[in-house]
Amino acid sequence: MQIDSAIFITSNTDYQKCPPPFKPEYAFIGRSNVGKSSLINSLVQKKDLAKTSAKPGKTQTINHFLVNDKWYIADLPGFGYAAVSKTKKASFSLMIEEFMLNRENLMCVFVLVDSRLEPQAIDVDFIDWLGRKGIPFVIVFTKADKKGVVAVQKNIDVFTQTLLQTWEELPQIFVTSAEKGLGRNEMLNFIAETNKTFEKPIGKTLSKPK
Ligand code: GTP
Ligand code: MG
Repeated sequence: MQIDSAIFITSNTDYQKCPPPFKPEYAFIGRSNVGKSSLINSLVQKKDLAKTSAKPGKTQTINHFLVNDKWYIADLPGFGYAAVSKTKKASFSLMIEEFMLNRENLMCVFVLVDSRLEPQAIDVDFIDWLGRKGIPFVIVFTKADKKGVVAVQKNIDVFTQTLLQTWEELPQIFVTSAEKGLGRNEMLNFIAETNKTFEKPIGKTLSKPK
């Protein structure tokens, strides 16, 4: 897929204030600092579209971007950031849960996992939660440029083995580097294919009856 345009639309904490659900949408979620905002910028090839930071906890709201005037990206706050207060953590997870459970046009959740690490309970728990709720997702390993191919593959193998303890089937997996553009074409192809299956939410239409 060629990217012709990518623009910022809204930033808010309430899924009900998100843009109208008339276009397919993909949400980026994962632990703080895993590289959600960076991967979004790399996908659309706009360096500063989503704000990134070396310090975790940068994205604190639901941020919507419209790509090619055709599909949305939702950049979400990270989970599991120790320095965020308990109250804030609870309001983050409520915001994310409500969004995931109620967003009608959500085609797929991209669960970002740091390819440098052994499986983290918080990632596995979140994946299990998505599974229980029947929310479609894929796993996206990030920062693959930071370690050698062998080390990355080893972590992916351990991660998938962990998932196979509770899952019969594995979800689709992407290996990416925002820095090097690795996995970019694969993700864009996946989005292009998934966009074809989008149906507008029933009972809501932009055009008024004649
Ligand atoms: P929060 O918004 O705080 O939850 O973080 P985030 O998941 O959006 O992470 P962000 O994109 O802000 O990136 C965090 C840090 O990781 C930044 O310093 C990025 O430059 C770095 N980073 C992200 N992706 C990559 C990558 O693919 N390779 C390398 N080497 N660094 C990366
Ligand atoms: Mg971010």
